[in-house]
Amino acid sequence: MIYHVPWIYTPVRTVLAIWHQLIKTEIPELSKCSVLMRERGRVEETIYAMQRAGAGNLQVISDFDMTLTRFAHNGKRVPTTHNILDNRLLINEDCTKKMRELMNTYYPIEIDASRSVEEKLPLMVEWWTKVHELLIQQRIRKDMLSQAVKESSAMLRDGYKVFFDRLAENQVPLLIFSAGVGDVLEEVIRQNRVFHPNVHIISNYMDFDHTGILQAFKGQLIHTFNKREGALSHAACLRELQGRPNVLLLGDSLGDLTMADGVSEPQNILTIGFLNDQVEERKELYVNSFDIVLVKDETMDVPNAILGHITSSRDSK
Ligand code: TMP
Ligand code: MG
Repeated sequence: MIYHVPWIYTPVRTVLAIWHQLIKTEIPELSKCSVLMRERGRVEETIYAMQRAGAGNLQVISDFDMTLTRFAHNGKRVPTTHNILDNRLLINEDCTKKMRELMNTYYPIEIDASRSVEEKLPLMVEWWTKVHELLIQQRIRKDMLSQAVKESSAMLRDGYKVFFDRLAENQVPLLIFSAGVGDVLEEVIRQNRVFHPNVHIISNYMDFDHTGILQAFKGQLIHTFNKREGALSHAACLRELQGRPNVLLLGDSLGDLTMADGVSEPQNILTIGFLNDQVEERKELYVNSFDIVLVKDETMDVPNAILGHITSSRDSK
């Protein structure tokens, strides 16, 4: 109605324009050249709604490999949790060769934009099952895992410390939901000194016999495209995540988008997708699927800026 009064129209419009300008410059990281957004307005509205609700209503759900860890460093691929196991302390040359062959066969399928999830699903089960069988045959020793992680070139994204520390300081739970190997994942974040008490992990955990030799993997297998099942059966039961209807979700695969399916009565969900590989082929799909897409961005700058904003609320816990 106020817009129809001519003398008030211009000043109101000016004030609104200034206000919008202010809002836009408040999160300058959203203007980074690596950032793609379908609807910037909606992203900003969601961030402001989350800020108003405060850190006490927030939970963060993140994938691990190639999301919290870097994709590449100095032109070389950074190892995933499975690939960290490629160390003579743990597996022999033949196993390395077989795991690489499997990776070369199945990874292109995992990221193939022209195949449907339904088509990929059984192939992912096949990949993970074969790799886990190979690892079990190697009789991996639990007490060697820590050394293998130390000797690996595992690397969390730049700015990881701010990310983990800020969540811990604000008592915001962080659920890491990974199709990687849980024991290795834990060791990576422990060695980086960010395994804080607010961190919860759902992943494929190794089952060791009484002498500390790998004999199986525990529970239901988690691969890239069945995280929804884990979200409904495990994440939904985590007491620490209850009563937090606002979710910041981070992933690098379209399968990661289902990680928040176990959240009951969600209010605001903001999804961030790292597009690391096959950029041109997958750009459109990613922009249509994630709220924010980070193209070949090896940093946590954008998630950190958003978290800084949300946790800056005076009402936060
Ligand atoms: P994530 O859920 O933490 O991202 O872990 C899954 C990734 O692990 C997925 O993108 C493919 C990768 N992976 C390997 O690098 N080597 C393997 O042998 C397997 C089975 C998966
Ligand atoms: Mg991943």
